[in-house]
Amino acid sequence: MTEKLRLGVNIDHVATIRNARGGRHPEPLRAAALAASAGADGIVAHLREDRRHISDRDIERLIDEIDLPLNLEMAATEEMLSIALRHVPEGVCLVPEKRRELTTEGGLDVIAQADQLKPFIARLKNAGILVSLFIDPSPAQIEATVAVGAPAIEIHTGTYCDVEDGPPRVAELRRIEAAARHAASLGLEVRAGHGLSFDTVGPIAAIPEIVELNIGHFLIGEAVFSGLDSAIRRMRAAMEKGRAQASGVRSA
Ligand code: PXP
Repeated sequence: MTEKLRLGVNIDHVATIRNARGGRHPEPLRAAALAASAGADGIVAHLREDRRHISDRDIERLIDEIDLPLNLEMAATEEMLSIALRHVPEGVCLVPEKRRELTTEGGLDVIAQADQLKPFIARLKNAGILVSLFIDPSPAQIEATVAVGAPAIEIHTGTYCDVEDGPPRVAELRRIEAAARHAASLGLEVRAGHGLSFDTVGPIAAIPEIVELNIGHFLIGEAVFSGLDSAIRRMRAAMEKGRAQASGVRSA
């Protein structure tokens, strides 16, 4: 049977709007509480080196005051490691980070950074934190993930979302499907995210090996028009519709 698909709601851009005026509104913690009541399974927040959106205090409060598990996205630096070990979130997703990028531009190069990542991941795992690596849908990066000891991957769906709808998007979808199959066959938990919207989520939700989607920017943008509760519920419905197609294919 196809596993239930979890939804992690990324609240970074609630903090982006708050920080535009330097005050307290809108409050990411309130968005997290609302996401919980709208049916999210987890909260995702990226603590960036430059603190452009989520702050250290946000992380502290998300851990202390929100019942949902927190997946902390962070770069593999000593500063972030000490923050993660201090707060012990349920999960840490390691992402590449460049100061001048607008958003995470590609997956982590696990092959190139294996020597640094292996001990880093071990320290997180020793603290009981579930580590995932944000990678492109590449077989070589998946195999390197196994070699460095991470139990989970998050497949970068940004290219799939950005390319033209039609054959280019189908080609990207096939890469993601093959990557998900390969990773699951090696025993990795498979998640996916980046750039997903109501229009693009269905085919990704239909991939049976994927157990979690992490979605932020589109939901916060859509919340401007319809409210966060409605945006999250509609996203869940779109995910479930896609998932039902996966179950249909399997049982047919
Ligand atoms: N997953 C990871 C690892 C990310 O870095 C991001 C963006 O912070 C997301 C998911 C969510 O992407 P988006 O905000 O485009 O939905």
